[in-house]
Parts: sequence; C-alpha cells; structure tokens
Amino acid sequence: MSKEKKEFLMVFSGDHLPIEGKKATTKEEIVALLQDDMKGEHAAIIQYLQHSYKIGDDAGEVNSEIESIARDEMRHFRWLGELIVEYGGDPTMLRDPIFLDAPDTTDLLALDVDAEQRAIEQYRDHLAAIDEPKVRLYIRRILMDEIFHQGKFRGFIAELGGDEDKEVKPGDTGPWNKDPNPASQDLELNEKGDAVPADMQDAKRDDHPLVKLLNNRIHQEYETILIYLHQAFISQNPEQRNFLISDKAVWHMTHMGTLGEAVADMDEKPDMELDFNEKFLEKAPVEPRQFNRWAVTREQELNKITEELLAHPIFHGSDPDEDLLSDLKRINGHGKFQVEQLQLDVDK
Ligand SMILES: [Fe+2]
Ligand SMILES: [Fe+2]
Ligand SMILES: [Fe+2]
Repeated sequence: MSKEKKEFLMVFSGDHLPIEGKKATTKEEIVALLQDDMKGEHAAIIQYLQHSYKIGDDAGEVNSEIESIARDEMRHFRWLGELIVEYGGDPTMLRDPIFLDAPDTTDLLALDVDAEQRAIEQYRDHLAAIDEPKVRLYIRRILMDEIFHQGKFRGFIAELGGDEDKEVKPGDTGPWNKDPNPASQDLELNEKGDAVPADMQDAKRDDHPLVKLLNNRIHQEYETILIYLHQAFISQNPEQRNFLISDKAVWHMTHMGTLGEAVADMDEKPDMELDFNEKFLEKAPVEPRQFNRWAVTREQELNKITEELLAHPIFHGSDPDEDLLSDLKRINGHGKFQVEQLQLDVDK
C-alpha cells in the first residue's frame, strides 16, 4: 500500500490521531485554530501562484497544474473564512511567510512539498484538538486535499528529473511556525541556500521601466481581492456575498495573475507583499451599500492605473509588447464594466 493511500485511510478511519496538547473547547479556541489555518492557506495560495509564474511555460503543464492546486487552496481559504464567521469570529486576512526562491525549479517545488507537509501536520494537530463535528468534517476534507497536493508536487519533481525525496528547508521560520503573530515576509534563498527576506526594493529589481508600474498595479489588485473577500465572508447579505466572491474577486484574481505572469516573464518578482497589519481592511466601510459605494471608487482608482499603463511610452514605441497590451486592454474593459455594474447596485 502506498504511503499516500495509507494516509488517506488514516484520515478517514475516524480514529483520533495521537494527541499532543489540549482540546479546543470554546468557540474562541476553535476560531483561533481556524484563523491559524486561514493564514497558512493564504500563504499557500500566494506561494504557489508565485512559483507558477516563475516556472512559466518552461516545464510543460506543471505551471497550470500548480495554479489548479492554488485554486484548491482558495476553496479551503473560503471554507475556513465561512466557518470562522459561523463560530462568531472575524476571518483574518493575515498571511504566513511565503518562500519564493530556490536554486532551480525542482528545489522550488520541494519548497511546496515542504509547505504541504507543514499544512498536513497542522491540520492533523487541529483535528486532534477539535471535537466539533462540522469543523472536523471540513478539516478532514481539506487534509485529504493537502495529502493529494503533496503527492502531486512530488510527482512534478520526478517528472522534471529531480529527486522527490530531497528536503529543501526554507530555514527555521516558516508558515505554520506556531508563532501567534508571525511577521509576514516573502523569503528567498541566497547563494548559500539560507532563507533571507526578499528585498523588493533591491536595485537589481524593478530595472525594467514597466515593472514598477505593473507591480504597483499587482499590489492594488491583491489588496482589492482581500478587501472584497473579507467583506464577502462577513456580509449578512447573501446577494452581496456571492457577487463579491464569484464575480468581483475572481476577476481581480485573473488580473493579478495576468500581471504577475507579465512581471515574471521579465525575470522580476511580482510584488505580492502587503502591509499585513490588516489596517488596509479599515479602508472599506462594512455596511453593504456604503461598501458598494467604496468599491465604485476603488474600481475607478484601478481604472486610472490601467489608463496610465496603457499610456506608457513603451506601448507607443516601435516594438510594443502586443500580448501585454491586449491583456491591459481586456483589464480596462473589465474595469469599466465593474464600475457600471457596481453603480447599478448603489443606485438601486
Ligand atoms: Fe489548503
Ligand atoms: Fe495544499
Ligand atoms: Fe483587477
């Protein structure tokens, strides 16, 4: 029986796994564990997206498969957010540290195997600590995915001729590090293989005239996505909730992806580092109508950045990047539609 198969059976045997530590019995204690899980899912989403952009088309279908794993993590993130609200908590938009660089592609993927390992261990711990049937159901379901994901990442490494058992540890500080207030930080490996903070301001970065503008835009997209998702989770208005998740946030995710790939294509790092003190959430009012009004303004701001990008001399020279230009035009079209669509809701 394969290791994965055995692990599947363990998850579904219903037996409590070895218990270390105490049970989470109050709603607050359960919420605290779910918040911790949410930060890890958030980190996994961004780490996998970044890795997929970095790998690009160099490794066959691997990048699109990683993006599909990232979409699973988005589902987990949403489930945890909704559970937290159900148990009386506020879904966190904080993120655990992510690891962006490794000497080569298979080492990069080994960081993802490691991320899944930490997730698997954390979910097992939480399964052991929580008796609440509904929460257990969701965690078991998520755990099943994480075990599957780890197998997939190992498979990608083997496919690319790497050693799937090679351990690449990104230093001692990592996501799932039990620190209740981990400093959110993008990390990369230096030449010696040590995890060091990724320096987005490094003079070596942003040396392409477009990169700074695109990164600024990626930043805004990312912040908008998180604000929309947070509002969706806490909104008591089901119509607004669905609208924000399945429509608004999803569109901005595609924009963030398109722009992220463009930056990675220029051999630069897409800037997905926010000020994760959660203060950015305070920018938006919570009451649905006021929120929609705020969203109109936010969409207008985004449109302004798109117009600025489209006006950039680089697109008006002799050799413009036609692919990026058409992507930006598409984003521009989305942006105008989003403003008018939100406006309809405000005027209702
Ligand atoms: Fe997950
Ligand atoms: Fe996963
Ligand atoms: Fe967008």
